Amino acid sequence: MCAGGWSCVFFLIAVALPTPTPPSLRAAADHAGILIGAAVRPEQLSEAAYASTLAREFNMVEPEDAIKWEVVHPAALSFDFSQGDKMVDFAMTHKMKIRGHTLVWHQQNPKWLTEKKYTSGELAEILERHIKTVVGHYRGKIFAWDVVNEAFDELQPGKLRSTIWRDQPGIVMAGNEAASSSPAHSTPSARSSQQSYAYIERCFRWAHEADPQALLFYNEAEAEVMNPKSDAIYAMVRDFRQRGVPIDGVGFQMHIANLHPDVASVSANIKRFTVLGVQVHITEMDVALPVDPNGNARPEDLQLQADIYREIATACLSHPGCTAIQTWGFTDKYSWIGSHSKHTQGAALPFDRDYRPKPAYAALRNALGSGRR
Ligand code: XIL
Repeated sequence: MCAGGWSCVFFLIAVALPTPTPPSLRAAADHAGILIGAAVRPEQLSEAAYASTLAREFNMVEPEDAIKWEVVHPAALSFDFSQGDKMVDFAMTHKMKIRGHTLVWHQQNPKWLTEKKYTSGELAEILERHIKTVVGHYRGKIFAWDVVNEAFDELQPGKLRSTIWRDQPGIVMAGNEAASSSPAHSTPSARSSQQSYAYIERCFRWAHEADPQALLFYNEAEAEVMNPKSDAIYAMVRDFRQRGVPIDGVGFQMHIANLHPDVASVSANIKRFTVLGVQVHITEMDVALPVDPNGNARPEDLQLQADIYREIATACLSHPGCTAIQTWGFTDKYSWIGSHSKHTQGAALPFDRDYRPKPAYAALRNALGSGRR
């Protein structure tokens, strides 16, 4: 063991002292003054390792699916908050902040909504009631909402997606608030884009009426870098801020599958939004890796993944207005990437299937650890 003399003294000291445990992500984030969150499946909270890892490592949660329309509003006249409430109770017990996701989306809507033909006026009433009921239920508990999710189209750069809310039949005809509240000096092109996203404006106004304290976010995919989609969102948010539409932030989803992302462009994009006076939250980060049939990734890819987590966290921390980093789940045991990619990709999160920290975990923690501001 030791040959005698000083080496024995050092050996005895080393075995007598407890192994220092590095701080959790949560402790590092608290110290850095930023929120570190994870999307949660409330049905897993009864699993001890799931619950203890979540409470130890994160200071914020968001329901992955539990308060989407199809779960929370299963029939026209009934709401079911049981899953969402379970997560909220957990978060409050463990003093975690709660984000809400999502009030208006084109996916995961119930059949009673999508299969019946409603007029614009009926649809506007349904949506207003949904937003006010859900936001009202969690008033004072959910501090930030993804009010509208993914309203811009992937295939037509800069254009809004056709959805039940926008134009199938859309809720705009029921009232044209954007046009009526436009300043007289708006240019014709500004007026026409205001009218095209007038439905989004109405959603933010309804959410604000239901909880004036809640921070209201527009959340989007594939607009993390400077591109036509993020340009269009930027123009909308700038217009909303100029006209006093209640918007407080923009969510960058950050589902990454390309292992060489343009982080400088992400950083420039965060900067331009925060300069408008809105916060940026990284809302759904994961880094999907190619996996073998057993779900295992290559060691070199796990290292690249760690670099990406570190670089994105560092980019966020370098802008005071980027106030939260959240991963979409936290353990590879429960991640949407597997089913979404037909099991060709996976291993996307900082903990493996047995809740062991991966290189991405250490990278994220180191970034948070050096990110005091
Ligand atoms: C995903 C969930 O993770 C899955 O469980 C569900 O089956 C489909 O939706 N962008 C979003 C999230 O805003 O709501 C999506 O979540 C992932 C992409």
